[in-house]
Amino acid sequence: MIDSSLRTVEWKDNKVIMIDQTKLPNQLVFVEYTDYNQVADAIRTLVVRGAPAIGVSGAFGLALASLQSKATTKEQLISDLEKARKILYETRPTAVNLKWGLDKIMNIANSGNTVEQIKQLVINESKNMAEDDIQINKTMGKNGSVLFDNNDTIMTHCNAGALATVAYGTALGVIRATRESGKNVKVIATETRPIQQGSRLTAFELKHDGFDVSLIPDTAVGYSMANGLVNKVVVGADRIVRTGHVFNKIGTYQVATMAKQHKIPFYVAAPLSTFDMISDAKDVIIEMRKGTEVTGIGDKKTAPDDINVINPAFDMTPPELISGIITEKGVAKPPYEESIKKLFEAN
Ligand code: MRU
Repeated sequence: MIDSSLRTVEWKDNKVIMIDQTKLPNQLVFVEYTDYNQVADAIRTLVVRGAPAIGVSGAFGLALASLQSKATTKEQLISDLEKARKILYETRPTAVNLKWGLDKIMNIANSGNTVEQIKQLVINESKNMAEDDIQINKTMGKNGSVLFDNNDTIMTHCNAGALATVAYGTALGVIRATRESGKNVKVIATETRPIQQGSRLTAFELKHDGFDVSLIPDTAVGYSMANGLVNKVVVGADRIVRTGHVFNKIGTYQVATMAKQHKIPFYVAAPLSTFDMISDAKDVIIEMRKGTEVTGIGDKKTAPDDINVINPAFDMTPPELISGIITEKGVAKPPYEESIKKLFEAN
């Protein structure tokens, strides 16, 4: 059963254990890795996905790299870790949590003196990051739960749940915390083509947690809002820049635009590790994925041969469409440049 007690990614006996999310919802399979290159492949091929989950996976990748290293000096070990950091970093470009996790581990590695001490520091820090992720999600959930009312029907897009984090989730963490606070809520999950994180992961995760969840095709977002089937939206994020522009799964912008049209509050839930306070919105790289994700569903071909495909994995939602950004430090409200700065000052 996928619930907040099940770990999406975990460090156990000097191995990284992950749920293979490409097999869901049909099979719950765990994979074990002892080589950081395997972790890099897992991130690239979406065995593990979701911004916080890949941040922690990157950190665990470096922990494996430290164990794999034959270095006898600090300099050699740091050089081995740098090589691994580059390979892990280049797996996916949009979610900033990956860079955050890798940088955090490299900083702690550089603070050590001996090879043995650095290895221990790196392993402990990556394990702490995983534990912190769960606590942060629970705090964020509580902060967000006050924005939702009894009998709300909440729409969510993609999967920002336990499966996108170490456990509990960001957007789905807010939904979980709302229910834990005694309110009765229903959920509408969008299918989220082309990779169907909504139907394969969110619908699966919520159904197994006993939520009243309905699945809709992405094309039914407008219908659902126009017909009063939904009264709030909450999604996760892969990167939020200081101006409040939110990068999240492709289609989020359409959901937010439609929510604005129907005066439905549109919330984003993300930890501070998802904020990029340096880049401008225009400089964020949107990952483009292979066309075969669009020209077929599973093994079934659904488009003519040799068709041109445009397959961006993420889009940008501008701040004017967002009612609030829920974090572990509180809820940022417009104007975002000011309120986001305050969240970091409080940190
Ligand atoms: O391509 P994915 O599945 O990694 O994209 C995931 C998303 O866009 C999520 O909404 C986002 O990472 C938030 S996860 C808490």
